[in-house]
Amino acid sequence: MYDILADFLARPLPFAVSTTETLWTDPHIAGEMLRFHLDGENDFASRRTSAIDAFVGWLDRRFPVAGAAVTDLGCGPGLYTSRYAKRGAQVTGLDFSANSLAHARKAAEAAGLSIDYRQADYLRDTLASGQDLVTMIYGDFCALAPDRRRLILDKVKAALKPNGVFVFDVFSTGMFMELREATTFESRLMNGFWAAGDYVGFKTTQLYPDEAIGLDRYLIATPDRTFQVYNWMQYYTPATVTKEVLAAGYSAVEIADFRTGGSWAGGATAFAVIARP
Ligand SMILES: C[S@@+](CC[C@H](N)C(=O)[O-])C[C@H]1O[C@@H](n2cnc3c(N)ncnc32)[C@H](O)[C@@H]1O
Repeated sequence: MYDILADFLARPLPFAVSTTETLWTDPHIAGEMLRFHLDGENDFASRRTSAIDAFVGWLDRRFPVAGAAVTDLGCGPGLYTSRYAKRGAQVTGLDFSANSLAHARKAAEAAGLSIDYRQADYLRDTLASGQDLVTMIYGDFCALAPDRRRLILDKVKAALKPNGVFVFDVFSTGMFMELREATTFESRLMNGFWAAGDYVGFKTTQLYPDEAIGLDRYLIATPDRTFQVYNWMQYYTPATVTKEVLAAGYSAVEIADFRTGGSWAGGATAFAVIARP
């Protein structure tokens, strides 16, 4: 017990441990995630409906998707892919969550939309080539370790047509400034999100100000098992993300505010990155 709790409160090296798959593929947690994805009123797993509509509207004005080959990385239950397809794109949605994809496929069928959903790991599996547009949305880029972000940048560059674009959003250092370190524990932490029956959940938030990295770490103890989840997040300025993308061999990077459609004015909001190979 002492060893587990002492380790839980220790400060790991940034991105030293990855538990992404637990978060998205554990059957109970994946079910809870899907419930949050589909609740258009909160921003927990996906943005709320109005924000998704605004993002897709902005994207389509900047890069008209009708007739374009579009891949969405980490498409989840298809909230973006379905909107791209309704606007006439040829869409591939890639995700490793069977649960989310089952919902996405059913929703596409019900809406009469033809979308190529693939259950795959975008870090390991090959991406469809000849893409006009690749998207990766809701800070998913920020959740990856630096070597994995580089891998994604390389893979997307190879998947894009020469005049294609990679559009993703990142969380800003203004958002990082609003975070505070804290530790808490509670019976059924987050109202049963982490397991179906009884459990005690611990959460600690650790911040790495020099690197603008945040960690939300969870320790979940049920009567049968104990597991941990590490949610890492890299926060960016326009300059830091531009430097990282250019270092991967992209030719140009543009920063945009997908909420206003104009240039990003700073502050505690996410912003869009438009990267050209
Ligand atoms: C925060 S959710 C965002 C989903 C969607 N982009 C949205 O905003 O509604 C992250 C999604 O990425 C998926 N994901 C995370 N890592 C992945 C990987 N390595 N390969 C494929 N999918 C991944 C998860 O299953 C989850 O559906």
